[in-house]
Amino acid sequence: MGEPPRDFTPDLRRLKVWPTMESSPWRQPYLADLTYGEMYRLANAFVPGRKVRILEVGCGQGFLSLELARKGHDVLGIDVDEKVVKTARRVMKSDAYKSNRGTLEYQVSDFSSWNNLGKLYDLVIFNRVLHHIPRPNKAVDKVKHLLTSRGRIICIEYAYDRFERRSATWFYHIRRVLEQAGWFASYKRLSDNIQVSVNRIMKDWHGHGRKERLNRFKEMHEPLRKLFRERHFSWEPYIFWDIFMGLRIPSVETEIGFARSLKAMEKALIEKAAISPILFCFVGDV
Ligand SMILES: C[S@@+](CC[C@H](N)C(=O)[O-])C[C@H]1O[C@@H](n2cnc3c(N)ncnc32)[C@H](O)[C@@H]1O
Repeated sequence: MGEPPRDFTPDLRRLKVWPTMESSPWRQPYLADLTYGEMYRLANAFVPGRKVRILEVGCGQGFLSLELARKGHDVLGIDVDEKVVKTARRVMKSDAYKSNRGTLEYQVSDFSSWNNLGKLYDLVIFNRVLHHIPRPNKAVDKVKHLLTSRGRIICIEYAYDRFERRSATWFYHIRRVLEQAGWFASYKRLSDNIQVSVNRIMKDWHGHGRKERLNRFKEMHEPLRKLFRERHFSWEPYIFWDIFMGLRIPSVETEIGFARSLKAMEKALIEKAAISPILFCFVGDV
C-alpha cells in the first residue's frame, strides 16, 4: 500500500470513501465497518467495567483506543512506529467527541522495553500485535505485572501458521470467481488449475519471511493460558480481509452484499470446522 492521503482519518465515526487507499478496508465505509468496526465490537464486549484504565499495545493509527476513550475509559496507546502514532494523535485532536472522552494519550515506544513508571492498568489489549513481538512469552509475562489484581488481557491475534489447504482452496474459489468477473485487482491472476493455484496461495501465505518474523499460534496461546485464567476463547473470521484488499465490484450495492456474505460464509465454515481459522480472541483474567 502506498502512502495514505495527508488527511486520512482512520476513525469509525468518520467513515468515508478514501479512493486512493486501494488495498485497505478503510477505503470504503462498509469494508471498514466489517473489519475494524468488528474488531472494536469484539474487544469492547470484554472490557471489564464502565470506566477502566486501558493500555493498548501496538495501537497503530489508534481507531480502537479512540473508540474506547469515547466510551469513557482512560486509554494509553503505545506503538513502536512514530508515523502511525502521528496519525493517531492528529485524529485524536480533531475528534468532535473529545469533551465526553476519558483521557487519551499516545506514546511512541517498543513494548519490550517500555517502562510503565509504576502505573497499573485494568485492561491490556493486543489487537493483531503480539504475533509481531519477539519472545511473546516475555511480553505476556510483562502484561501480568502491568495489571491490577482484578486486571484482564484481551488478545485478538493472527495465527498465520494455522492457514492450511482447505482454507487455501476456499480462498482460491472465491478469488477465481471474482477475477473472472473482473471484480478483483490482482497483480497475477490465478489459473484454472486448482492444484497449481492452491500451491501458489499456500506458498504466498507462508512466504514473505513469515516463519522467521511472526510468532506461531502455540507461541502466543501457551503463555496466555499459563499466566491467565481463560475467560473466553473464540476463533474469528479473518481470511476475508485478504479478499477485501483486492475486491473491486463496480456497484456499491453489490459490493456491500458480497462483502457481508463473504464474512458470514467464513464464519459458518469456521463453525462447521470446514476450514482452519487464523484469528483468535483470548480473554484472560489475572
Ligand atoms: C498489524 S498492525 C495492528 C495495528 C492496530 N492494532 C490495528 O489493529 O489496526 C501491528 C502494529 O504493532 C506495532 N508493533 C509491532 N511491534 C511492536 C512493539 N514491540 N511494541 C509496540 N508496537 C509494536 C506496529 O508498529 C503496528 O502498528
